[in-house]
Amino acid sequence: MNLPSLKIGDLIAKVPIIQGGMGIGVSLSKLASAVANEGGIGVISGVQIGFREKDFKINNDIANIRGLIKEIRKARELSPNGILGVNILSAVNNYKDMVKTAVKEKIDLIISGAGLPKQLPELVKGSNTKIAPIVSSSKAISVIAKIWDKRYKYIPDAVIVEGPYAGGHLGFSVQQLKSLKLPKLSDIVKEVIETLKPFEEKYKKKVPVIAAGGIYTGRDIAKFLKIGAAGVQMATRFVATEECDAHINFKNAYISAKEEDIQIVVSPLGMPGRAIRNEFIKSVEKGKQPINKCYRCLKHCSPASAPYCISDALINSVQGDIERGLVFVGTTAYRLKEITTVKKLINELVSEAEESLG
Ligand SMILES: Cc1cc2nc3c(=O)[nH]c(=O)nc-3n(C[C@H](O)[C@H](O)[C@H](O)COP(=O)(O)O)c2cc1C
Repeated sequence: MNLPSLKIGDLIAKVPIIQGGMGIGVSLSKLASAVANEGGIGVISGVQIGFREKDFKINNDIANIRGLIKEIRKARELSPNGILGVNILSAVNNYKDMVKTAVKEKIDLIISGAGLPKQLPELVKGSNTKIAPIVSSSKAISVIAKIWDKRYKYIPDAVIVEGPYAGGHLGFSVQQLKSLKLPKLSDIVKEVIETLKPFEEKYKKKVPVIAAGGIYTGRDIAKFLKIGAAGVQMATRFVATEECDAHINFKNAYISAKEEDIQIVVSPLGMPGRAIRNEFIKSVEKGKQPINKCYRCLKHCSPASAPYCISDALINSVQGDIERGLVFVGTTAYRLKEITTVKKLINELVSEAEESLG
């Protein structure tokens, strides 16, 4: 059976795979455009995207806006007809300006997690940009849908459901993540689909639900399509591609990671994260790391109490200084054995999924 396309309003992705946004700088124009060119949805990570700009440290907000414009334009040039999104964390201070900039640049889709993107419909009003919150529970989507319905007479164009096995920041408590009773992504997906039904009826609008976190093979993709998901979001597998925008050391850290090297870490964002155990994590465990310069990038982060500067830690790793950096990763990274191309990866996933769908 052919894989169904993923429809988000008038956007139609031939391949129902969204490449998850990966910050800082892991998914930029190169990776996003490669995925979009293969028929999936390529997502640029907006978080601290200006890190390569000369004035990044002194003019953080302006450098990020400039960086975002550059990456969107580059991606569009590389993929004139593909579907491109930007991932903008709700928790960042310059959220509104970043969203408005992406809309001005005619981005197809904005994906927002790490908090409730309560104002998002207002920020894209009058544009053709679609909006998709990331949630980790049916309760969270119920809150967002109710607020958007009441305030803006709008419901999400798509919803990403991120389960406990994802990479980066996670919408679960440390206790939950360390317990053996982790919620199952498939259960959360089913609950979110049910929660959205009355809203879909009211607005006569289909809201595709996309499963994310720990999805590794085409068989996994087929499994989520069978339970009603309209597609999947995958990130970890896209790191081990030639097109991934991270330094080769970052990609090699994934390839050499063993299962026991992948652990839960505290993050100044206030949510737990998943990362590869390295010298950096060991020093954080010993105590607070010095913070020389605060970018004021996050709404609820203070240099006085933060265990480390997450921006510096993520920038170090994406630029190849792995041992002094935080290497975010999904649970499946230890299964990666080699670097491939986006084309080969998507072809493999599609044929496995089609075979599995029968
Ligand atoms: C290196 C890395 C960085 C990430 N950064 C972000 C981010 O900036 N914003 C976000 O919403 N999700 C982020 N994520 C989560 C992914 O977008 C994705 O939803 C998740 O990792 C999917 O699970 P998988 O990696 O098992 O495929 C990140 C994941 C990784 C691996």
